[in-house]
Amino acid sequence: MSQRTLVLLKPDAVRRGLVGEIIGRIERKAGWTVGALEMRTLQRATLEQHYAEHVGKPFYEPLVEFMSSGPSVALVVEGERVIEGLRAMAGPTDPIAAAPGSIRGDFGTIVRENLIHASDSAESAEREIKIFFPELG
Ligand code: TYD
Ligand code: MG
Repeated sequence: MSQRTLVLLKPDAVRRGLVGEIIGRIERKAGWTVGALEMRTLQRATLEQHYAEHVGKPFYEPLVEFMSSGPSVALVVEGERVIEGLRAMAGPTDPIAAAPGSIRGDFGTIVRENLIHASDSAESAEREIKIFFPELG
């Protein structure tokens, strides 16, 4: 079943020069393609929409500070079971709990600075694609 999902390469991934490495992993997955891509520094208002489920939680303010601290790369990725597949490729939220071989497991140590966002369901994917690429909504 072909799907699409919203991926963010977070400011730590951009600062550390890991954009090519991470997009390379996505592109090498059979049949997955990058359908849209943009690099920009995310504004608080955009992040409030994107992370609406987390507004008010203790980690929310530091998360927004970090996510607006420099440019991110937003992508729409399309392909077979790409929503589940990109969550697996990213690994669990805590990079120390993430297995080596996953993006977070290979490159991260800090929960907040975990390199990548990937939509967690078909509903989230459609909602998040509209936020970052309204023209694809
Ligand atoms: P969440 O949606 O739970 O994780 P995921 O990105 O795996 O879907 O949380 C969103 C982001 O918030 C997460 O990637 C990193 C940050 N975060 C923290 O900084 N501290 C926390 O305790 C949690 C749960 C998340
Ligand atoms: Mg999430």
